[in-house]
Parts: sequence; structure tokens; C-alpha cells
Amino acid sequence: MRVLRSAIDVRAWRAHARRVGLVPTMGALHAGHASLVDRAVAECDAALASIFVNPAQFAPHEDFASYPRREADDLALLEAHGCAAAFVPAVEEMYPPGDATRVHPGPVAEPLEGAARPGHFVGVATVVTKLFAIATPDVAFFGQKDFQQLRVLQTIARDLRIGVRVVGCPTVRDPDGLALSSRNAYLSADERTGALALSRGLFRARDRWAAGERDPERLRAAVRAEIAPPAALEYVSAADPVTLRELDAPSARAVVSLAARVGSTRLIDNVLLGMGVSELT
Ligand code: PAJ
Repeated sequence: MRVLRSAIDVRAWRAHARRVGLVPTMGALHAGHASLVDRAVAECDAALASIFVNPAQFAPHEDFASYPRREADDLALLEAHGCAAAFVPAVEEMYPPGDATRVHPGPVAEPLEGAARPGHFVGVATVVTKLFAIATPDVAFFGQKDFQQLRVLQTIARDLRIGVRVVGCPTVRDPDGLALSSRNAYLSADERTGALALSRGLFRARDRWAAGERDPERLRAAVRAEIAPPAALEYVSAADPVTLRELDAPSARAVVSLAARVGSTRLIDNVLLGMGVSELT
């Protein structure tokens, strides 16, 4: 596996690869990330993963400094999953001196995570647009786990006419239901047990949906009923999966999502109802 540190090196590598699948990550890789690499390897001629903890998507009070960094382990995981190359740039490579251009996504970035974390999606949109410009992938793979991020990036690729297909892949969970996340590393054993309330709540909403419930407020209530200390709900949403607008009437499809704090760790999760993530483009 090639380890590339500069945009110039990525372009030189890319010139000899045919159909390239890109998997952007912030490292501290787990089986969720690996599932995206597996898709890229299976569906493309060459898989390129990026590892970059992107300062622009963290607010000053957030966990940029403490975000787990494990480059050697990450590179070993990528190699074991058949990645052809890893792009691991320094901050100055992605944000050269004087860098001032930012990508502002539209309304799909406004509610939910966009409201809770002002500026977050500008940072995500800017860095992923740079990665698209550097690597010119044919396909890019993102997890349903960060559902709004997926929709923001699909919308940007379409609006900016970037010739990349942005593919959503299912959330990988531990056997007890907890969605894998690099931030799970922050949880104590008790907090991890408490964090199971998140997926329990979402699965309860999914069960209600399977039983025919379509009222968005009852779906939100099904989630809320499961959340108890040490988990503290920041929001629970039942929204349209394409626009992310909050539903106020029964709908044939919904994304039920939540953000919660468990101790000092902020976690997000969601379930998609009435459609599969691969149907979104
Ligand atoms: P990161 O949190 O490292 O996630 C990288 C990719 O892995 C994202 O597409 C995310 O949705 C996916 N992912 C995370 N947990 C997953 C799980 N349990 N199952 C399936 N996929 C999962 O998301 C980011 O980094 C950054 O915002 C990034 C897009 C790299 C831009 O900086």
C-alpha cells in the first residue's frame, strides 16, 4: 500500500489508477470504516482512503486536540483490507498558508447537526471538496452513521457538478447495538452500557414503524422513552431522508436520528425507515 502525504503525490498515483473509490476518514479506524474500504475494493479498481483530522469541522470547545490519532494501526488496517493507497496529509497540505476558501452547503446542512454544531458542515464540505479535487475519485463511500453528512455531501457533489458518485453504506454496530464510532473510545464501561439506550430507542422506533406506525411524533416519543441517565438527549428527530426537514405528518419514509451526551461524550445515531441508504444519490 502506498502512503501519500501530498496532493501532488495523490495526483501522480491517481494518473495510473482506473476507477478509484475514495474513503475519507479522520482515522482511529474501526470496522465501520473497514466496511467502507471493503466496498471501495469490491466496486472499484483501486481504493484510496484518507486519514485527516480536519480542524475546520471542530468548534474551539470541541475535541480536535484529544481526537484519537493512531496512524500506524490505521495504515495496517487499511492495508489488511486491500487499500491500494492512503492519503495522510499534514494540516498545512490541506490548508496552505493564506487558505481562505470555504464551501457553504445549503438548507440540508441547517437543521440537526448543523444547528447543534454551527460551522461544522462548512468544515466537512470544504475538506471533502478538497479531497474530491485532489483525488478525482469515480465513487466516494460514506457511512449512514453520519446521515446528514452523507446528504450534505451528495447535495454538494450534485450542485457543484463534481463527477463523483457519493454512495451511502449501512451503519456497522457492535452485537449489542451500539453504533461503532471513533468517539466510543472516550466512554467508560458504565457509560458504554448507558449509551446502549440510544440504539435501543432507535430500534424501538423501527419496531413501531414495522408495526405500521407512521406518525412522526409517536416515532420520536418511542425513542425518548428509552433514553435515561447517564444518556442525556440533545435532540430526537423524525425527518424526510432527502431534505432533512422535520416531518409534521405521516410519511412513507423517514430518518429517525438523535444526538445525546453520555458523560462528556457526544454521540449520534439514526435509523432509516421506508427506504435503504443505497437508494439515496
Ligand atoms: P469519520 O468519523 O472518521 O468517519 C469516516 C467515515 O466512516 C464516514 O463516512 C462515516 O459515516 C463512516 N462511519 C463512521 N462510523 C461508522 C459505522 N459505525 N458504520 C459505517 N460507517 C461509519 O465522518 C468523518 O470522519 C469526517 O467528517 C470526514 C467525512 C472524513 C470529513 O473530515
